[in-house]
Amino acid sequence: MDIDLTPAGIEGWLREENPEKLAMLYAAADAVRRENVGDAVHLRGLVEFSNICRRQCGYCGIRAGNAAARRYRLERTEVLECALLAEKLGYGTVVLQGGEDFSVTAEWWGGVIREIKEKTALAVTLSLGERHPDELARWKEAGADRYLLRFETGNPRLYRRIHPDAGGEVSDRLALLRTLRALGYETGSGVMVGVPGQTFADAVRDALLFRSLDLDMIGIGPYLPHPQTPLYAEAREVAARAAAGAAGEQILPTAENACKMVALARLLCPRSNIPSTTALAAARGGGHELGLRRGANVIMPNVTPAKYRALYAIYPEKEKIDAPQSAEDLGVWLASFGRVPGRGRGDSARAAVRADSR
Ligand code: 5AD
Repeated sequence: MDIDLTPAGIEGWLREENPEKLAMLYAAADAVRRENVGDAVHLRGLVEFSNICRRQCGYCGIRAGNAAARRYRLERTEVLECALLAEKLGYGTVVLQGGEDFSVTAEWWGGVIREIKEKTALAVTLSLGERHPDELARWKEAGADRYLLRFETGNPRLYRRIHPDAGGEVSDRLALLRTLRALGYETGSGVMVGVPGQTFADAVRDALLFRSLDLDMIGIGPYLPHPQTPLYAEAREVAARAAAGAAGEQILPTAENACKMVALARLLCPRSNIPSTTALAAARGGGHELGLRRGANVIMPNVTPAKYRALYAIYPEKEKIDAPQSAEDLGVWLASFGRVPGRGRGDSARAAVRADSR
């Protein structure tokens, strides 16, 4: 079936609530996924390196202003052990993610990246927030392959409200994504679905931005309210309005709406790598499988040492959600719905096409 991907068409799908109609959207996304990136599910070991962050994002539980958050940072040897574990488990990539922890120098990171590249065959993905182009260039030289930086919402006014500037600099993630691409990184971005104040029209704009940014990776998850954040009160109001059938233009932070965005992202960006996210699994049991059936082709099992996991609480109880981790469990689980674990690095099929056409 042809899916209408005009702005009006996309908006229609986002508003769609009929399960039979939605099944058509999901089947189309699944078919496009199979044709373009196949049945392999690429595995990325996620290392939550530090929950120290200089930012004050209104949605995020590890924002600097959350005095209740106990802070941690992994030692260099711990990061390396996580990477070795990811390789031992058969994953092709390690993702180093953390808050904007500026007490760690660019040199330090360069050393860690170099060591991982020397000691493993892993692709290295960084997800370390908004950094200076010089740092990003240095890390690319050290061997980093990919960078994840969600633009969170394509509505500039909403973005400024939920993601205040920091360090006296205007936050321009779209510009940084262009810098990352120019530096030679495979570039990933994405959004939360259902942030208070986010409308259907905003979500349409987000989906179209995935395509115009020509992303290699697209991460999408429902917004999950964290009680120790400024947006929490608004999230409660949105939920109350939704319960009264009066949500208006607000797109709600449901697993279903996140799935619609995943499916639309697949249709708009057939060759991109799209993870089925932890946030989706937190919003609905079985969410990892659901995302993979509706357009996603990547899973990011957490390889952070267990003692730190509860502290990386960007939303509540995140540590309770995890995909299977061992190669055997992953193989059995994926096979149960017709998929196979990816081998090798799982590079972006989109990046390969882009390189060919140059
Ligand atoms: N709910 C859902 N996703 C969140 N993120 C941060 N806080 C939350 C939350 N409360 C997402 C953001 C960020 C990514 C690492 O996690 O999109 O870019």
